[in-house]
Amino acid sequence: MLHHLLSLETLTTGDVSSLLSQAQTMKRQRGTSSRSTAPLAGQTIALLFEKPSLRTRVSFEVAALELGAQSLYLSPQEVGLGKRESVGDVARVLSTYVHAVVIRTFSHSILEEFASQSQVPVINGLTDAHHPCQGLTDVFTIAEEFGDVAGRTLAYVGDGNNCAHSLLQAALKMGMHVRIATPPGYGPDPMVVARAQRDAMLTGGSITLLHDPFDAVRGVDAIYTDVWTSMGQEAEAEQRRAIFAAYQVNAALVHNAAPDSIVLHPLPAHRGEEITDEVLDGSHSRVVREAENRLHVQKAILRTLLVPAESLAVLTA
Ligand code: CP
Ligand code: NVA
Repeated sequence: MLHHLLSLETLTTGDVSSLLSQAQTMKRQRGTSSRSTAPLAGQTIALLFEKPSLRTRVSFEVAALELGAQSLYLSPQEVGLGKRESVGDVARVLSTYVHAVVIRTFSHSILEEFASQSQVPVINGLTDAHHPCQGLTDVFTIAEEFGDVAGRTLAYVGDGNNCAHSLLQAALKMGMHVRIATPPGYGPDPMVVARAQRDAMLTGGSITLLHDPFDAVRGVDAIYTDVWTSMGQEAEAEQRRAIFAAYQVNAALVHNAAPDSIVLHPLPAHRGEEITDEVLDGSHSRVVREAENRLHVQKAILRTLLVPAESLAVLTA
């Protein structure tokens, strides 16, 4: 069976729980004498990126290194996925050299096409539609703060984008109550919402779609926001700044959440747009820990896909 991580859609609650608990072990073991040996020794992980990155690139490279593998970064200028040669040709050739490919690209269908032609696991390092490594990390970070996440409340404020989709999928599989406040016309993909609603029926979670950010954050345990203009949407930046102006996560908004609430953001942030310096650097913010956690969660993903016998979960997408 071919194993990929393209989105979180097909993962079960058991798969997500297993990844989160493996990530917890990885985090605990890092830097201690009990650090595991090199389960990926002799393997090579290719990172094929068509958009810039700090966290995803570095955390995957360090994860590979610490698991005994080497990584190979292919920048936006190098491969020309679907331009210099076809997506299928790149997938068929690259997967004869390496043991897994992390891809960051634009259309999710490019990732799906690549995976369909790849002999080795493909991991989504962000597409326009999904950011599964981020969504898993976000729920891991909430669990770290509060213990069990089932029944906890989370408000997503801003654009119904790739991070919103993966957060929604991860949170609903773990039984959270998610409120999403977006401007009209900028909500999450209705298909993603419908499937997450199906998960909610199994896990006891819920999804509420709103337009008022203050209604969304009232009493919640966690507030989440992301940029209003994602990579590839730069031409819309000015228009989006006007449309999203009322959706800024600032001190007045955070004041309406629970007193011990946390604030998350995948980063990079557009400071002064979707979030103020005061909140991003304030006592509720967990954004640096969230970014660090990408490393631990991605180690769990790499182990699960590449050393399935050592892992409890099997991922398919
Ligand atoms: N959060 C995230 O994916 O960051 P990068 O774009 O820096 O990888
Ligand atoms: N929504 C953002 C996330 C970056 C990590 C983007 O796609 O640019």
